[in-house]
Amino acid sequence: MSQSPDERSTGRRVTRRRFLRWTAATVGVGALAAAGGGAWFGATYLRARINTIGKVDFDRALDIPPLAESQMVDGVRTFDLTMQSGEVDLGQGGTTPTWGINGPHLAPTIRAARGEQVEVHVTNDLDEASSLHWHGMHLPAEMDGGPHQTIPAGQTWEPHWLIDQPASTLWYHPHPHGHTARHVYRGLTGMFIIDDDKEAALELPRGYGVDDIPLIVQDRQFNGDGSLDESSSVWQSDGIVGDTILVNGTPGPYFEVTTQTVRLRILNGSNTRPYNFAFDDQRNFSVIATDGGLLEAPVEMNAVQLSPAERAEIVVTFAPGEHVRLQSGPSDTRDRLAGGTDHLDIIEFRAEEQLSGTSQIPDELIAVPRIQESAAVKTRDFALAGYAINGDAMDMARIDEVVTRGDTEIWTVTNFDGMTHNFHVHDVQFQILDIDGQEPPPHLRGWKDTVWLPQGQRFRLIMAFTDYASNEWPYMYHCHILRHEDQGMMGQFLVVEPGESTRSEDYSASNDHDGH
Ligand code: C2O
Ligand code: CU
Ligand code: CU
Repeated sequence: MSQSPDERSTGRRVTRRRFLRWTAATVGVGALAAAGGGAWFGATYLRARINTIGKVDFDRALDIPPLAESQMVDGVRTFDLTMQSGEVDLGQGGTTPTWGINGPHLAPTIRAARGEQVEVHVTNDLDEASSLHWHGMHLPAEMDGGPHQTIPAGQTWEPHWLIDQPASTLWYHPHPHGHTARHVYRGLTGMFIIDDDKEAALELPRGYGVDDIPLIVQDRQFNGDGSLDESSSVWQSDGIVGDTILVNGTPGPYFEVTTQTVRLRILNGSNTRPYNFAFDDQRNFSVIATDGGLLEAPVEMNAVQLSPAERAEIVVTFAPGEHVRLQSGPSDTRDRLAGGTDHLDIIEFRAEEQLSGTSQIPDELIAVPRIQESAAVKTRDFALAGYAINGDAMDMARIDEVVTRGDTEIWTVTNFDGMTHNFHVHDVQFQILDIDGQEPPPHLRGWKDTVWLPQGQRFRLIMAFTDYASNEWPYMYHCHILRHEDQGMMGQFLVVEPGESTRSEDYSASNDHDGH
């Protein structure tokens, strides 16, 4: 496979040339402290806002990803997934070459219950190596599907683990080092829904595809021949920001509403774009869950922002016969380059004349005890700037942090440059202690695995590393703007048994996970 321009432009020399270009295009060069600042200021003048409000036809029924079939084998719920290439109609007047799992584009929704053992047989039928990561899942690092669990072309990987976390909307996607953006962009994205008894006991919509709807929101840019535009122009340091929105792979989607209340499981599955979701009439909805599960109580809002990889479950009430559009407007970030100032039509909801069910949802959901700050035995600082974390670009052979199993820690995460970033931690769901010293807003007080870091902001996150020690297999933490991740805005941590201290020198001497 030939290299895309995106990959070719990753060398240091090019980066420096781009930096000079940005600074040359910018007034007040002296104010620029970092290349990131240059990227933002320069690009602001180079990228026009996109506004698709009123320009989307909404002429295709929303595709609902099928539920993945499973078999019980000796008490283990077993799934078969095959990564493959194919082509689909994405509204470009023909077909578009894409990648998918068990089909040409996107992936089936995996569903399993807390307490179940699962095993997934992942076969890579692509013509290059990939991996498959269970985003948001608490599981052994060896099963995590990160850059150390490469699946060579033609081979099968068989991770297995115990589902041991609350009901939630997780997702899965490839994570091959340096190529995650391209693999996700081509279509390798699926949802992973976890069920549990507490969620099942609540009066919430849960008819999959009927009143409980997955919404995988992704932007794409197309070439004239209908193929995916995978190039990033030289100033596009955030990667591709597309002008076409797909929901579950459907361009211009509508959904026929048959019930008074509908639960939407929204995943920002885009490589770069943040969204600020709201309905065209600014109606209120209830946010009931974030990345890692239900909130203590529904939070009434009329807009919710999601950076790449974040999820929100919302419940919306519809009146008979009405048509309502979900849209996205400018978000808190000033990052026009990342699409943060665009206006987008996303999906139209068309309510039937008779709607079944009720418009009520519970006042209280589940208990989400706050992790006390006093429980933390260690604080670590993570500074995000210039495609690096704490000044270091990702190195597969370097362990950046070693955590002791059983410990609760505070991770202080700060965005120090002019670009928008976010921060994702593998293995754990964390809670936000504060944002720039302020208590988080109610909808950010539940379990999270990814937080948005607008420019200059500092988040303090608290998390407990309860299980799964390994001296060999690390977990990742990284910016989930996939081009930033691929460029090196990622680090690795080990969770080790108390008393063990694995230093990075030992690690690089004894490991060669890279190539297998
Ligand atoms: Cu969505 Cu490292 O993950
Ligand atoms: Cu992840
Ligand atoms: Cu970033």
